[in-house]
Amino acid sequence: MNYKVPVIPGDGIGPEIIAEGQKVLQAAGDKYNFSLDWKEYTLGAEHYLKTGELVSEETLKDLGRFPAIYLGAIGDPRVKPGILEKGVLLTMRFYFDQYVNLRPVKLLEGVWTPLKDKTPKDIDFVVVRENTEDFYIGIGSRARRGKSHADFEIKRKLYNIKFGLDIDTDSDEIGYQIGEVSREGSKRVIKYAFDLAASRPRHLVASVDKANVLSDIYGFWREVFLDVAKGYPQVKHDFNFVDAITMWFVKNPEWFDVVVAPNMFGDIITDLGAMIQGGLGLAPGANLNPEGTSMFEPIHGSAPKYKGLNKVNPVATIWSGALLLEHLGQPKAAADIVSAIERNLFEGRIKTYDLGGSSTTSEVGSEIARLVGLV
Ligand code: IPM
Ligand code: MN
Repeated sequence: MNYKVPVIPGDGIGPEIIAEGQKVLQAAGDKYNFSLDWKEYTLGAEHYLKTGELVSEETLKDLGRFPAIYLGAIGDPRVKPGILEKGVLLTMRFYFDQYVNLRPVKLLEGVWTPLKDKTPKDIDFVVVRENTEDFYIGIGSRARRGKSHADFEIKRKLYNIKFGLDIDTDSDEIGYQIGEVSREGSKRVIKYAFDLAASRPRHLVASVDKANVLSDIYGFWREVFLDVAKGYPQVKHDFNFVDAITMWFVKNPEWFDVVVAPNMFGDIITDLGAMIQGGLGLAPGANLNPEGTSMFEPIHGSAPKYKGLNKVNPVATIWSGALLLEHLGQPKAAADIVSAIERNLFEGRIKTYDLGGSSTTSEVGSEIARLVGLV
């Protein structure tokens, strides 16, 4: 079996961590008799600074021929914040309609967590983050004193929206942002969360919202959640306000199995999730379109200050690669990669600075690749 996989190393530490991911995925391929044929795409700061282009329609179309993309990180201090993040990363997530952002929060053996009395059996849940709507739709602007008008349009495969806004203000200047969740968009991701919970032993789904204050947008999310829940009598469900869930993640992470959240709250709580599982260097992610092209990337960013130093932890990217292999239909190879990561962490000999070690990015990658053959 051969898989052709587009790979976007991207910016900052992206190329270093992706190289280690490729090494480990190849080791898993050797063990399970499949090969990976990488097709590299140079998207990100270098490409943008040289050509002024973020990502072309042609590149997007080309990427869309594949079921899974492997991505390092996007973002560079030479480019104004938001340009690359929105112009490349969010553009791909939206173009491929990757409506599920799957972010496992799992404490592996051998990892120190700031919640020091919790063990791997207490920290093992998955956050399903809606990945296409909410305050991420990029609609908003500034308006100065007086009367003005703004038109906005969202064009999606699932639906289209036009907003026409008459503004009249006596403030010097205002900035505003419009968030939106749709019935279709919430329903599909909440269904994904319930299906996932039905396939896991504990059968629990916790929803995140702020329906007490932002009631139009998140009260609606809650209503859709309740509608979907009716179809899954075997799965227990509850609601959490986003501020409260940050507290429970720290105090009682063992309560959670599958957590489903609108886009922005999902972004915020998964950085917290990463920290309770031992740090950003360990936390994997997947942007899924179950019927189309998915994209696998660590949840951390491009860490420009560590670029080229062969210093950062490649585990999050290697683990994201394991999610990629699972998606391609290689669950055993994926499970072995996670076991190899865990064995490496448990042995504790070869680890990067963030875990208290002094090994390099490539030493950790090579060691995990070696362990894939042994677990
Ligand atoms: C993430 C990141 C992105 C997001 C940024 C870089 C656009 O923080 O993947 O969590 O907000 O989704
Ligand atoms: Mn984030």
